[in-house]
Order: sequence, then C-alpha cells, then structure tokens
Amino acid sequence: MNTVRTIAELRQEIAGWRAAGQSVALVPTMGALHAGHIALVGAALALADRAVVSIFVNPTQFAPHEDLARYPRDEAGDLAKLAGAGAHLVWAPTVSEMYPEGFATRIVVEGAALPLEGAFRPHHFGGVATVVCKLVSAVTPDLALFGEKDFQQLAVIRQMVRDLALPVTVRGIPTVREDDGLALSSRNAYLTADERYIAPMLYKVILDVARGRDPRDAAEALLSAGFTKIDYIQIRDAETLAPFEPGSGRPGRVLAAAWLGKTRLIDNVGC
Ligand code: PAJ
Repeated sequence: MNTVRTIAELRQEIAGWRAAGQSVALVPTMGALHAGHIALVGAALALADRAVVSIFVNPTQFAPHEDLARYPRDEAGDLAKLAGAGAHLVWAPTVSEMYPEGFATRIVVEGAALPLEGAFRPHHFGGVATVVCKLVSAVTPDLALFGEKDFQQLAVIRQMVRDLALPVTVRGIPTVREDDGLALSSRNAYLTADERYIAPMLYKVILDVARGRDPRDAAEALLSAGFTKIDYIQIRDAETLAPFEPGSGRPGRVLAAAWLGKTRLIDNVGC
C-alpha cells in the first residue's frame, strides 16, 4: 500500500491503473479510522479493482467554535488498519495542498443541506461539498463510498453529484454499530465512561420513533436518561430531507442529533 501527499503523485498512480483498464473506488475520510470506515473500504474492494482512501481533516467543514483542533488524529494507526484491510493507495494531503494560497472557490449547497445539521451547523455542508468535489476531481474514481451514519451528508453529496453531473457513482453503506447499538464514530473517543453507558439510548429511541413513538416523547426520554441537549429528532423524506409526508408512499428517515456533555452524537434509521 502506497501513501502519497500531492495531487501530482496521486494522479500518476491512478494513471497507471487506468492504463491497465482497472476501475477505481474512493473512500473519503478524516482519519481516526474505526470499523465503520473499514466497512467502506471492504465495499470499495468488492466493487472496484482499486481502492483509494483519502485522509484529510477538512478545516472548512468545522466552525471556529467546533472541534477541529482536538479532532482525533492517528496517521500511523490509520495506515496499519488500511494496509490490513487491503486498500491500495492512501492519499493524505496537507492543508496547503488542498487549500493553496489564494484558494477562493466554494460549492454552495441548498435543498437537502438546509434543514437539521444545516440549521445547527450552517457552513458545514458547504465545506463538505467543496472538499468532496475536490477529492473526486483529483482521484476521478468510478465510484465514491459514504456511510449512512452521516445520512444527510450522503444526501447532500448525491444532490451535488446529480446537480453538477459529476462523473462518479455514489454508494451509501449501512451504519456499523457497537454490540449495544451505538453507531461507531471517531467522536465516541470523547465520551466519559458514564456518557458511554448512556449513549446507546440515542439509537434505541430513534428506533422507537421509526415504530411510531412521538419524537417529542423520545427527546424527553433522552433528557431523563442524562443527555444534556437535543438538537433535533425528526422524521424526514429519505431522499430530499424535506418534511416527511405520511401516506406519500415515499421512504422516510428518522434523524437525530443530541449532546452528552461536550460531545455531540448523530444517528439515523429508516422508517
Ligand atoms: P469521517 O467522519 O471520517 O467519515 C468518513 C466516512 O465514514 C463517511 O462517509 C462516514 O459516513 C463513514 N462512517 C463514519 N462512521 C461510520 C459508521 N459507524 N458506519 C458506516 N460508515 C461510517 O464524513 C467525513 O469523514 C467527512 O465529512 C468527509 C466526507 C471525509 C469530507 O471531509
């Protein structure tokens, strides 16, 4: 498994594969890899000849008060996990490679990006879309894989790829969970032992909402269990993320974001 930093080195590696007629899958990540990320790599290897994993903690998707500085980083550990998983190439660019002096272009996302996370983190999806567009344009993969863990992110990326006719197929991969139901997340490392014990309640109550429980009642149950703040628990149209219309025959999704002390957890399930 080779590791490259620059777009020039990346393109050289990929040109060799293309010359041999091989297909390429991209798995974008911010590192601090866990079994959820590795499931994306496994799917990439099953669907394409070559799997490229990018590791880049993208500053433009964090607001100034968010956790960019303390976001977990472990490049050596990540490279060992990716080699074990069978990835072919890791692209770990520097901030100045991705955002060189004079960088002045941004993707603006509306539609699926506006509610939920968009209301609480107004610049987040603009930063995600901009970096994913650049990752895709540097790698030119046949397909790019994203986790359903970040369900709204997946919807925003599908929307961007469709709207800008980016020549890539987007695949969503089901959320990988701990045995007690907690969705794997790099941010779980922030939880204290007490918070970790309570955290699986989030998954439990959104499953209840999917089965008909009132979302306000579910939010109250989380607060009683020790969650400190509920940003939202809502049922949305699974594709557009517009308010869900019961009886429309369209698939719905229960999405939630809630705080346990200093840690913000998100999760979602189909309904
Ligand atoms: P990151 O949080 O590192 O996640 C990388 C990918 O792993 C995303 O597609 C995410 O949905 C997926 N993922 C995370 N936890 C998962 C789990 N428990 N099960 C399945 N998939 C999981 O999401 C980002 O990075 C960034 O926003 C990025 C797309 C890389 C752009 O900077």
